[in-house]
Amino acid sequence: MAGDKLKGLVLCGGRGTRLRPLTYTRAKQLIPIANRPSVFYAIDDLAAAGIRDIGVVVSPETGAEVEEAFGDGEAWGVSFTFILQEAPLGLAHAVKTARPFLGRDSFLMYLGDNLLSGGLSRLVEVFRSGDLHALVLLTRVEDPTQFGVAVVDLQGRVVRLVEKPKDPPSDLALVGVYVFHPVIHEVIETLRPSSRGEYEITDAIQGLLDRGLRVAAHRVEGWWKDTGKPGDLLDANRVVLSRLSRRLDGDAVDSEVSGEVVVETGARVVRSVVRGPVHIAAGALVEESHVGPYTSVGRGARVVRSDVEYSIILDEAAVIDLPCRLDASVLGQGATVRGGANRPHRHSVRLVLGDRSLVSL
Ligand code: TTP
Repeated sequence: MAGDKLKGLVLCGGRGTRLRPLTYTRAKQLIPIANRPSVFYAIDDLAAAGIRDIGVVVSPETGAEVEEAFGDGEAWGVSFTFILQEAPLGLAHAVKTARPFLGRDSFLMYLGDNLLSGGLSRLVEVFRSGDLHALVLLTRVEDPTQFGVAVVDLQGRVVRLVEKPKDPPSDLALVGVYVFHPVIHEVIETLRPSSRGEYEITDAIQGLLDRGLRVAAHRVEGWWKDTGKPGDLLDANRVVLSRLSRRLDGDAVDSEVSGEVVVETGARVVRSVVRGPVHIAAGALVEESHVGPYTSVGRGARVVRSDVEYSIILDEAAVIDLPCRLDASVLGQGATVRGGANRPHRHSVRLVLGDRSLVSL
């Protein structure tokens, strides 16, 4: 008998190659969305669904940083167990590595670079009431060739899964949230690496189907985002910022601040125009600038005599005297983009800069 308890498993290992250069110096799951590490939204959802015992799979490169950011879980009323995956050998390998933590309990696995708006409570309910061996979350996508794709029957049962199909059998893609019965471990023990050299979770789920076990599908309610690439991060930032409510705790001096704008305590907006949704974190300075919409400015960051739109500026980064608008950009922690003293307004520039980069325009 499996235990009744549902544990959480959050995957924060991996390589993050698609988010270089940002991931040379940080875990992608900690890149901020609206000035909070993106994976924190997953923890919010797990805690809200009543899942208190959470394993966090980490890599040797970023494990220490992830552990420090997560802390002991008290802020959420949960407890974290950090599990080191020596090499990023795939999602099923991450589950295998976590097996001692998971024991004989069912678990909800959440990829640390995914974001969902609809919460997890309904998913947990469906799993609990359905006597299932796995429950996968699906969403319609425009280009199924980039995803794990499911074929689902009229009862919502998954019939077949294909990873990144050339000729997709449906447009229903697997989202990075799954619930598993512990029988999944037996299947994982039998897996071989795929053509890309990884132990695939889709192969493990297909293994459940091949054994005649029950795999059901649940459709995403609200939106879902994978923050694996810079464009996705910006889109996720846009969506999360759209839920902001106006709150001006910091100073706004001689400025026009309109819409859903948060200025945290200790942040300053001086002789500037800020159009929400925008989040300006504690200690940041916006001076003689235009900021927004859809922009977050990190702790201690500075935007001075510049225009910034639809961008993520990490902590301590600086945008100073830009001769053109900074648009759809992600600036790493402590990165500096600097222009000349006179700044005729020409066009916009798009940048993805790693931590502590320096660009002069
Ligand atoms: P992916 O985005 O599929 O892989 P990745 O992080 O290596 O990124 P890229 O493709 O850009 O190189 O991973 C999804 C999530 O799962 C992500 O949060 C990292 C995590 N993960 C692990 O924890 N262990 C693994 O072995 C893999 C492959 C991913």
